Amino acid sequence: MADLSKTAIDAAVAAALAAFAAAGSNAELKAARLAHAGDKSPLALANRAIGELPGPQRKEAGQRIGHARDEVRRALAAREAEVGAAELARRLDAERVDVTLPVSFAPPGAPHPISALIDLVSEVFVSMGWEIAEGPELEAEWLNFDALNITQDHPARATTDTLFVEPLDSHLLLRTHTSPVQIRTLLERPLPVYIVCPGKTYRADEFDATHVPVFHQLEGLVVDKGISLAHLKGTLDHFAKAMFGDVRTRLRPHYFPFTEPSGEVDLECFVCHGASVGDPEHPCRTCKSEGWIEWGGCGVVNPRVLKACGVDSEVYSGFAFGMGLERTLMFRNNAADMRDFVEGDVRFSRSLTGTAR
Ligand code: FA5
Ligand code: MG
Repeated sequence: MADLSKTAIDAAVAAALAAFAAAGSNAELKAARLAHAGDKSPLALANRAIGELPGPQRKEAGQRIGHARDEVRRALAAREAEVGAAELARRLDAERVDVTLPVSFAPPGAPHPISALIDLVSEVFVSMGWEIAEGPELEAEWLNFDALNITQDHPARATTDTLFVEPLDSHLLLRTHTSPVQIRTLLERPLPVYIVCPGKTYRADEFDATHVPVFHQLEGLVVDKGISLAHLKGTLDHFAKAMFGDVRTRLRPHYFPFTEPSGEVDLECFVCHGASVGDPEHPCRTCKSEGWIEWGGCGVVNPRVLKACGVDSEVYSGFAFGMGLERTLMFRNNAADMRDFVEGDVRFSRSLTGTAR
């Protein structure tokens, strides 16, 4: 039976007040509250025992215990306010932020210059009403070669140039150029077509100032009625001007199995401007002292390619080109060595794309 005497109740109150005063944190105060004001505290037990007293004693005990519990509740509320305020002050102090301190910025990255260039060249053609086409980097050997009239014995098919994918009888390879997209486009899209396809290409090539094994090309294809070499020349002149402003170009005859006639377009070396030609004292590593750097290949679409894609070559004709995007970037930005493009130094990217820090 609980002790309801005045001595016991006074002692319980005194213990509660002492415990509240001693609690210095919210957690300590919570423990003191449970012990002295909770359901199982001495005062709660005493309160519950009142009913068991004989009638005459009940009123007096009830008043005493009621007052005692009120006193404890008030003391608890007051201490809770104090401790809460002190904890808040401590946290505000600990978590203070000095907005006047100098900040160290984590530099954001920059788009890779090739990605930025792809956006730019796409814009040049889209603004003429052309469309962007796509094809996979892992390509069927037939689309990369046969459909383009590149026969089985053509040197470009040699395993020394082409990265075939195992198992070899899957006849899959990493596309060596973006030209298979010409075939995909003619098989998929209604005529006429005016498309460009920027994309990644792979060759077991050397790694030097003007060659990397993974590079990008921009394929262009037009098939419509009445298309001639003149349209090709006009398009490439426009593209060169949009990319480089005034730069000297030359178109020389070349051979591609999928175009006839074919040509290659060269740009005058932006480093030596031809001065290194025949001057062994001052060689130019960018153009290898040739004075010109090849930009890409082009030509009038071979009727055999049109026929292979079910296009009536008596009614339709077209032109195509495939320009190197790394080479384009070198010329636009006077970047003398293509190897810098693949080293992934963000300072290089930033300097080429002009990305603000
Ligand atoms: C082709 O790949 C033909 N498909 C281009 C073409 C398309 C001709 C449509 C006719 C019609 P070529 O192998 O010359 O051609 O490559 C084209 C361009 O890709 C080169 O002029 C050069 O700018 C770029 N290129 C080729 N190999 C590399 C390399 N290893 N690194 C960087 N750029 C390269
Ligand atoms: Mg070439």
